[in-house]
Amino acid sequence: MKRIGVLTSGGDSPGMNAAIRAVVRKAIYHNLEVYGIYYGYQGLINGDIEKMEIGSVGDIIHRGGTKLYTARCEEFKTKEGQLKGIEQLNKFGIEALVVIGGDGSFRGAEKLTEHGFPTIGVPGTIDNDIPGTDFTIGFDTALNTVIDAVDKIRDTATSHERTYVIEVMGRDAGDLALWAGLADGAETIMIPEVNEDMEEIIKRLKRGHDRGKKHSIILVAEGVGSGVEIGQQIQDKTDLETRVTVLGHIQRGGTPTAADRVLASRLAAKAVELLLVGEKGQMVGIENNKLVYHPINQALKKKKSLDQEMYQLSKELSI
Ligand code: F6P
Repeated sequence: MKRIGVLTSGGDSPGMNAAIRAVVRKAIYHNLEVYGIYYGYQGLINGDIEKMEIGSVGDIIHRGGTKLYTARCEEFKTKEGQLKGIEQLNKFGIEALVVIGGDGSFRGAEKLTEHGFPTIGVPGTIDNDIPGTDFTIGFDTALNTVIDAVDKIRDTATSHERTYVIEVMGRDAGDLALWAGLADGAETIMIPEVNEDMEEIIKRLKRGHDRGKKHSIILVAEGVGSGVEIGQQIQDKTDLETRVTVLGHIQRGGTPTAADRVLASRLAAKAVELLLVGEKGQMVGIENNKLVYHPINQALKKKKSLDQEMYQLSKELSI
């Protein structure tokens, strides 16, 4: 193998640049040529592809976003789109590909492998929703962004003695809300993995208030539903003055934390190592701080399970 490609796809996440850098440098270290594919699978279909050198990835390790840009591409979900992508890879003489992204991106990577094109997936998403890895690139940074925001909201919640509902991202997963809630001492954490009765939540809020709690923080994962609607229900069913903040896309940006930069560098370098030994259709991950890899098709069949112990702890500590 002489030439590999790298792309980022789906929602960006802080640390993707560190991952791109690691793919490029690791490949060049092993005398491979590397081509960057811009705008994810859309750029692959369009042939938006360029050779990368050591210097192409200088000065990006600390930057959020992705130097290669990203896109969500409907056309790549079709066989025609996938074959067009492979045609471009062949045209540029690219023999294998590293895909950095979330589960949608992994589905594309799996399709390429099914069509005979060797591909390795590197998990990059703030959602931390990919089975086969304890952490995805960007989760730690997003978590710290949420914590920073909640700390600020807590100040004003305290001053005004208000109840705050804060909606965080995560798609169908509750990890961001759960980790942030534990780190921030939220009174209630609502995540899609646990079906909690709204009446129960309201009762608990009232109980806390009667016991002398002057303000409350409720973290709602977007997968549960609209924070605005939940805030309205709380306002209607209690006499607690309630405000809602939807954190939105600030969670996707910003300088990656050290943990994300290190994770990205380790995972991306491992992906190149796997290609060098002829692996394909695998995703790299980290489990118990050890680099691992699993078949992408297996990972896609599973759903990442909730850390029950952690959820229980969050309940016990927020009594
Ligand atoms: O997957 C990352 C993520 O930020 C999710 O948390 C969120 O649901 C989604 O992407 C938002 O997507 P978009 O940026 O396309 O609106």
